[in-house]
Amino acid sequence: MASRPSSGRREMPDCHQGPASAGPFALSGAGETIAAKGRILGMIAQSMIPKSGNRFSEKIMRQQDDRTEHSTMVAEGRPERRREAFFGRLKGPKLRQHQVDLLNERLPVLGLDLSRPAPGDLAELFQVPVERTRLEIGFGGGEHLLHRAGEDPACGFIGVEPFVNGMAKLLSALEDAPRGNLRLYGDDATLLLDWLPDACLDAIDLNYPDPWPKKKHFKRRFVSARNLDRFARVLKPGGIFRFASDIDTYVNWTLRHVADHPAFAWTATRPADWHMPYAGWPGTRYEAKAIREGRRPAYLTFRQLEV
Ligand SMILES: C[S@@+](CC[C@H](N)C(=O)[O-])C[C@H]1O[C@@H](n2cnc3c(N)ncnc32)[C@H](O)[C@@H]1O
Repeated sequence: MASRPSSGRREMPDCHQGPASAGPFALSGAGETIAAKGRILGMIAQSMIPKSGNRFSEKIMRQQDDRTEHSTMVAEGRPERRREAFFGRLKGPKLRQHQVDLLNERLPVLGLDLSRPAPGDLAELFQVPVERTRLEIGFGGGEHLLHRAGEDPACGFIGVEPFVNGMAKLLSALEDAPRGNLRLYGDDATLLLDWLPDACLDAIDLNYPDPWPKKKHFKRRFVSARNLDRFARVLKPGGIFRFASDIDTYVNWTLRHVADHPAFAWTATRPADWHMPYAGWPGTRYEAKAIREGRRPAYLTFRQLEV
């Protein structure tokens, strides 16, 4: 998580380490006029055309696609491999005893066991009947996830967060506000994505993913061709992928990757569609800090194309 103290082990991303560079996708576009979708897409596409030596060089894109394949499959067809898209810290400051107890007692109940096959119908995962399912990747302290699960009890939520302190924070909050429509997973979301059955999710939320702002670290970003393939497989036709970030280079990166992917379309028709938060948006801690520091977030929504 961005606000964790440095371990000294490796350079960590930080959503809030300073003003975002003035990237081609200007998040502060004051005075914009409403434009037709085609014009917006054209404008964005133009703004993201790689220039010599720029951040979207073909070399970076090739690195993204050519990285080492870690996956191996066990005989039963279940994924058994190392983490692929998590480069952060698993642990932060020492947990209080009560948090340790919660992790020991509640996680075996609420956590998903990927050593068992996923049910064909994800509704079976939840204590209460659900009509839809939604996945949040990297929930941090869980504030947004808890809010969404309370706001929409007929939807089953799966939250993923490998950072133990974030998981402990959410488990503490769940003591006061239990959610029968919530399941959790405490590791790299790619492992969970590969476990899920085809076309099982109505929506995927990726809120303020680790930005990895340095060019040499772009390949660590969660949005990648491979992870979009994963999203395309697990989303139902017409399913939604939401991406919020205050880092303009990551917003551009995501627009570029999605534009290159055949399974998704950006739903925006006017600037307000990416400047305005999503309906019912409660904000996140990371977002509050970004706004305090003068960065303007973007809220992108993509739809899985029904092919
Ligand atoms: C910058 S924080 C944002 C947290 C939260 N979404 C918010 O807006 O407050 C990014 C989070 O993504 C988590 N994360 C990073 N890589 C991940 C992965 N491969 N799978 C699941 N979570 C991941 C990190 O542990 C971290 O908590």
